[in-house]
Amino acid sequence: MSLLSDTLARVKPSPTIAVTTKAAELRAAGRDIIALGAGEPDFDTPDHIKRAGIAAIEAGKTKYTAPDGIPELKAAICEKFARENGLSYTPEQVSVASGGKQILYNALMATLNPGDEVVIPAPYWVSYPDMVLLAGGEPVVVECPLETGFKLTPERLEAAITPRTKWLIFNSPSNPTGAGYARAELKALTDVLMRHPHVHVMTDDMYEHLAYDDFKFCTPAEVEPGLYDRTLTCNGVSKAYAMTGWRIGYAAGPKALIAAMRKIQSQSTSNPCTISQWAAVEALTGPQDFLADNVTLFAGRRDLVVRMLNAARGVTCPNPEGAFYVYPSIAGLIGKTSAGGTLIDTDEAFATALLEETGVAVVFGAAFGLSPNFRVSYATSEAQLEEACRRIQSFCDGVS
Ligand SMILES: Cc1ncc(COP(=O)(O)O)c(C=O)c1O
Repeated sequence: MSLLSDTLARVKPSPTIAVTTKAAELRAAGRDIIALGAGEPDFDTPDHIKRAGIAAIEAGKTKYTAPDGIPELKAAICEKFARENGLSYTPEQVSVASGGKQILYNALMATLNPGDEVVIPAPYWVSYPDMVLLAGGEPVVVECPLETGFKLTPERLEAAITPRTKWLIFNSPSNPTGAGYARAELKALTDVLMRHPHVHVMTDDMYEHLAYDDFKFCTPAEVEPGLYDRTLTCNGVSKAYAMTGWRIGYAAGPKALIAAMRKIQSQSTSNPCTISQWAAVEALTGPQDFLADNVTLFAGRRDLVVRMLNAARGVTCPNPEGAFYVYPSIAGLIGKTSAGGTLIDTDEAFATALLEETGVAVVFGAAFGLSPNFRVSYATSEAQLEEACRRIQSFCDGVS
């Protein structure tokens, strides 16, 4: 009898974490590496939030809490949804977990039976299909190519829905493409969902606060109030407040679902870190003005990266609406050979050769379900980005 479960055999480890680990190993071995793989802001948690964490420790707020969050944080989350999204929730409709990842995982564990289908637009965040598999469900991947701006269309959504569809996972702005849905585009999708009352929506709004130019973030339950009872609106403090290591994510939705998620948490992690919950209260209720400064900073980096990557031979890089990623196509390089002699027959071969020959670490598109592409995270300094893009340009120049 195998020690490991059959379910685990269906799941692969996170490729983004694998790239970050490989880059760190090469750096430790003395190589000059520029890592564009990590999905986290390159700056520190703001001081007022750190101080709230320290104050919590000093005040002895270091014990277990209710499984899905302290009342103060739930109240802050309700206030955030009302203030920023026009959504009205009560604390019993709110769940807090150890990161956005655990929120999504709890929700899938709480709802999926064998054979239940989850529609996942691709390119997708790497964890969605594997979390669905871990929870015993079936991912139904819908390809959303460059021609549709990497966005799900109503026609593609309609075609993916079957009587077994339980969820659509909806992520805007997106990891890995940065694509964000305008209100009209989202309304066209929610109109489809209104025709299929058995389908629920899990929205991943993690990049809400990273929206550029005139793009206005919106979320399904706000755009279509008719979906309120079948939407789990998920968010977190990791990306907006540079709090990835604090591990706080949250969601709001139907009471019965929130209670089921609480049951899972009570039998697994018990509660999200108490100290981090107090820091998250400060993040959501404290000053918000630095968010606009971050947007200006990231928008400048995006412009730099898009311009320089489009100048690389064989690369096409769309200009995304949000997040801190771009997802260029390398269709123009497939079938050719790098200066170092690697045949670029896949985007994985491209990313491997790029890392070995230039020291630039990116994540290959196949990891996100749409090829041939690669993902660049521009959550790093302009100087590093400029140097990395120069190396990518000269790598592409050397391909023949
Ligand atoms: C789209 C998306 N959802 C969820 C998460 C998970 O966030 P957290 O670090 O809060 O678990 C990430 C992190 O990379 C993400 O990119």
